[in-house]
Amino acid sequence: MSKTASRSQDFFRAEGVAGLTRRAFTTASGYEPADMARPLIGICNTFSELNHCNSHLRALSEAVKRGVLQAGGFPLEFPTISLGEIYLSPTSMLCRNLAAMDTEEMIRGNPLSGVVLLTNCDKTTPAALMGAASADLPAIMVSGGPMLNGHYQGEILGACTDCRRYTAEYEAGAINAETYKAVEANLVRSAGHCMVMGTASTMNSLMEALGVALPGNGAIPASDSRRTQLAQAAGRQIVQLVERDIRPSQILTAEAFDNAITLLHAVGGSTNAIVHLPAIAGRVGVDLPLARFDEISRRTPLIANMRPSGDYQMEDLFYAGGIPAVLKELLPLLHGDALTVTGRSLAENVADAEVSNRDIIRPLDDPLAPEGGLSILRGNLAPDGAVIKHAAASPALCQHRGPALVFKDADDVKARIHDPALDVTPDHVLVLQNAGPIGGPGMPEIGNLPIPRKLLKQGLRDMVRISDARMSGTSYGTIVLHVAPETAIGGPLALVRDGDEIELNVAERRLQLHVSDAELAERRAVWSAPPPAYTRGYGQLYLRSVNQAPLGCDFDFLRGKDPAGPVWQPKF
Ligand code: FES
Repeated sequence: MSKTASRSQDFFRAEGVAGLTRRAFTTASGYEPADMARPLIGICNTFSELNHCNSHLRALSEAVKRGVLQAGGFPLEFPTISLGEIYLSPTSMLCRNLAAMDTEEMIRGNPLSGVVLLTNCDKTTPAALMGAASADLPAIMVSGGPMLNGHYQGEILGACTDCRRYTAEYEAGAINAETYKAVEANLVRSAGHCMVMGTASTMNSLMEALGVALPGNGAIPASDSRRTQLAQAAGRQIVQLVERDIRPSQILTAEAFDNAITLLHAVGGSTNAIVHLPAIAGRVGVDLPLARFDEISRRTPLIANMRPSGDYQMEDLFYAGGIPAVLKELLPLLHGDALTVTGRSLAENVADAEVSNRDIIRPLDDPLAPEGGLSILRGNLAPDGAVIKHAAASPALCQHRGPALVFKDADDVKARIHDPALDVTPDHVLVLQNAGPIGGPGMPEIGNLPIPRKLLKQGLRDMVRISDARMSGTSYGTIVLHVAPETAIGGPLALVRDGDEIELNVAERRLQLHVSDAELAERRAVWSAPPPAYTRGYGQLYLRSVNQAPLGCDFDFLRGKDPAGPVWQPKF
């Protein structure tokens, strides 16, 4: 018997009052001694009715349970915090680390031998994996899957790329209220997460490349029966992982992160992955500097034609072969021998995958673009880096120099952006300050500042926008994000004033503020930090401990492997 299998079995076998109590209470839940003699598999469920994207996970949990029972395990489900993008305020990102701590401590503290993690909406996936990686017991990620495509008058709709696009058209007066309402009614038509290559699609796809999810996890639609079969298979496979004692620390290697970054660029994935992957890597002691994202971007062609940078959505990608087919195309660029939760290598996992639609998944030698969809920028405005999804940007704006128009925070944007008297031209660079991890707080997804209505009405649909915020993976435009260090700790973004010339050059990976060092020093001398957003509770812990974006916004005290490793037996 493996060490992990005996973790739960020894717990129930204990002598004295501890063993008696554990068996008595478990028996009272309807189980028998034979159940307690099997490896206990936790099903970590982020189901919540406050989170549409995860609201169908109870059914998947039942499928996981069936699989665990089929393989001779003892399944018990438990809840953890569920973070929904649509309802949670001020931003779900504020609570990602809280959810990761919840997951870690529930895995660590309960007598589990292994765990299947059910996630879906944007933050639930990285949070669960961060926690599971730190706890380091055998684990498999299972996501709930993407929504089906939306349809309206022959057009395919996608959340939430079309939420934004149609709102901009409505603001510009290009569509009427009736059409706008019809889009609302036809956009989201099933269970699941947003179906463009937004953050949830990206992160749940990257789980396959990291090797912590079964093949198919990324693209099988939420309402497709094969999603249920995948969950059941994960239930069987976790018992195998426990028997073989295969843990996240053996799977989440530097090579696995290279594989994930390669997939990220090849599918034009979300900028948010450039926050979440360093946070996950930090949990297993893998150094993942922003430079690695740029190195891999330059050698990885964009081969998946996915919205918001391309034409298709997750349902289409699934029919075209799914993430296994994308990974098979990418094999020459991947560490194919990386271990995965199937117990086999990544290359073995995708050996039988086939592409059935070459307009969706292109071959490596005929890509949509020769390089990946995301770039890392540097310059005196972002000494520690910034991110742009150039695949979803306007090519003409990727080399641009213009005067800054500065908004000091999100409230300032709300108050002035659509003011008819706003002195703004298409050449302006919109700058948003105080929207980073500390200043936001929580680095909200507001980096895609709206285009001023008066310019929208003139037909303008994109401008250069720069901030220390994030943006939704479903957003598009020439938008520079994650500027580090952030405004609230005195990064150069804090010193920008209206009229300053800013230069963006994506090809040269440059973001430059054309203001002299002497002038910047003078401005710094009179700069002062904004008051803290929280003075008590979790918010205060967050402000005290959160790292900047290049380190994934994890808490400083959560990075690194636990030197003690997993807790094998309870102390008392
Ligand atoms: Fe959950 Fe978009 S709101 S994935």
